[in-house]
Amino acid sequence: MHKITMLGTGLIGMFYTMTLHGLRSRDQVTVAYSRSEERAAKFAADWKIPRYTTSMADAINDPETDVVVIGLPNHLHEEAVTLAAKAGKAILCTKPLARSADEALRMLKVVEEAGVFAGYLEDLVYTPKTLKAIKSTQAGALGKVLWARSRETHPGPHSDWFWDKNQSGGGAIIDMGCHCIEISRNFIGKANKPLEVMCWAATQVHPIEAEDSAVGLVKYASGAVGQFEVSWTFRGGMDLRDEVSGTEGTIWLNHWLRTGFDMFTAVGEGGYVAEKAETDKGWLFPVGDENGALGYVEMFADQLNALDEGRPPMESFYDGYVVNAIMDAAYRSATSKQWEPVILEDWRGDTDTDSGPAIRDYDAQYYLIKEELMPDGRSKLILKDKQTGSVIQRVSEAG
Ligand SMILES: NC(=O)c1ccc[n+]([C@@H]2O[C@H](COP(=O)([O-])OP(=O)(O)OC[C@H]3O[C@@H](n4cnc5c(N)ncnc54)[C@H](O)[C@@H]3O)[C@@H](O)[C@H]2O)c1
Repeated sequence: MHKITMLGTGLIGMFYTMTLHGLRSRDQVTVAYSRSEERAAKFAADWKIPRYTTSMADAINDPETDVVVIGLPNHLHEEAVTLAAKAGKAILCTKPLARSADEALRMLKVVEEAGVFAGYLEDLVYTPKTLKAIKSTQAGALGKVLWARSRETHPGPHSDWFWDKNQSGGGAIIDMGCHCIEISRNFIGKANKPLEVMCWAATQVHPIEAEDSAVGLVKYASGAVGQFEVSWTFRGGMDLRDEVSGTEGTIWLNHWLRTGFDMFTAVGEGGYVAEKAETDKGWLFPVGDENGALGYVEMFADQLNALDEGRPPMESFYDGYVVNAIMDAAYRSATSKQWEPVILEDWRGDTDTDSGPAIRDYDAQYYLIKEELMPDGRSKLILKDKQTGSVIQRVSEAG
């Protein structure tokens, strides 16, 4: 059993607490920190948390707790991590780990020097569908992964600080690109070095300094490409979709608007439908188990089991740092309009990845380009001569 300090009583603090209290029911949020006494008291009463405080330091140094969960705005993550590492507690920090790779690297060093457990709460790689898809990909079902595309779009975040670049570190890229990038890394392979990024970013709708839409391509050492698509301008709810393409297969995942639960109501029933839903009438896409569908359940199970078993979690502070380095390159590219290198002062993955194209042999003379059965029953083989480079086709008649 773990006794937990929960920093933050906003949207994510609530989802985290609901999950922790619902999941193994042996972990307990023991103290909650909020800036506002009133909010802290209400949150503690709602979730049966014995103590609350308006002092971040007191919450972290609470004598009873052994784990600190950080659910605070992005500009407070480093301060919270530094205090928690000093207190010698296990730390679980929400996404994005930091506002930049420099900040993330400092946080990584702080936890490693203190020797404390440090998990990165990247929930969207832990959805049951995603975990299964990653397993299939790792088992070779898709062959060599060539392209992993991940999208998160919705009409924009729910609190002021997200919209203020100084507190958040950026717009849709920092807020949601971090999810998409880490999803792609899990499919492409975390040991596969991200090399460079090309990114378009724009402020299309909102009166803010940061970008409210962006599309980026991340090139990896194997030749694979990770594509992220993020927006705070999308209308119609929250669109969470992933696609993975490999030499032998494809996976499509739809996490939110089409989950197999479609409902029409002319009158509505009043109240909340699903995160970022824009309407409670007409065609609705409710989600059976939000905590499960967003990955929070499997995420806390892995992170707390890792802590108990003395093993690294699936998502670590190091992963958070790599994601921040990729996002830094995306921001540079959006300005320079060029491919920008991913600067990783500390790279712990492979350094000898094979980047050659996935060419298939047909026989001693030819490579296989394509094989297809035509509508009239004939089959075609398209081949390339290894010596001369000429491309030929062989057609076999039906039957
Ligand atoms: N899927 C996810 O993993 C996910 C989803 C949402 C948010 N998040 C992350 O969680 C963190 C918090 O986001 P949220 O959605 O809960 O935000 P929120 O605005 O709903 O809640 C933020 C909490 O921090 C407090 N706070 C705000 N400014 C503060 C300040 N200056 N000093 C002290 N406390 C302050 C607020 O009162 C509130 O308790 C962010 O890092 C965000 O990126 C993660």
